Amino acid sequence: MLKIVVLVSGGGTNLQAIIDGIENQTIHNTEIVGVISNNRNAYALKRAEQKNIPAACISPKDYENRALFYQALLKKVHEFSPDFIVLAGFLVAIPEEMVKQYENRIINIHPSLIPSFCGVGYYGLKVHEAVLQRGVKITGATVHFVDSGTDTGPIFLQKEVYVEEEDTPEVLQRRVMEQAEWLILPKAIDLIAQGRVFVSGNKVYVKEHEIES
Ligand code: GAR
Repeated sequence: MLKIVVLVSGGGTNLQAIIDGIENQTIHNTEIVGVISNNRNAYALKRAEQKNIPAACISPKDYENRALFYQALLKKVHEFSPDFIVLAGFLVAIPEEMVKQYENRIINIHPSLIPSFCGVGYYGLKVHEAVLQRGVKITGATVHFVDSGTDTGPIFLQKEVYVEEEDTPEVLQRRVMEQAEWLILPKAIDLIAQGRVFVSGNKVYVKEHEIES
């Protein structure tokens, strides 16, 4: 059983896609052992509570400085003893120490086709605003492993989504979620739970069948 902790900041629709995937068995052999939000008002926390998943808020506002916030965040993650960490709309940079301790055991969903529209300052709706401003015709979403940079880790899964002429950032955000994020994030977790994924350098490989141990 793959035990995952899911880190969230807002609405939690990606968290919901994971919960649904586990319930309808498109994600196998996986348990969400905890949900952590940096934002007390995140609807994602309610989604967790509704399913009796242990949920906690670790807000930077409750700590004197970044280092203390990071310490508390890491402590909370440890309390859940996860095998794997999923950043599902977590809009805060994670501590370097977490990246070290969970090397190649953290994935993130990003709402564009990396390496476009990613990096510092590109998160949530801002990504879709930038996509529309630049006038690209195809965008999408990416699941990648997390390294110490911002959106620089090995790319795992990507899916394209067409931009329509009349799109607003909100409309495009919703389409990218529906047609890409809610599909590839559950799929990524399922592949990991099946032991079919390994990372080598900056590449991610997926075995056709389960890796025998
Ligand atoms: C999602 O679109 C996710 O890809 C994005 O935040 C949104 C969270 O929505 N993440 C990033 O921008 C990370 N750089 P959700 O709370 O409804 O899942």
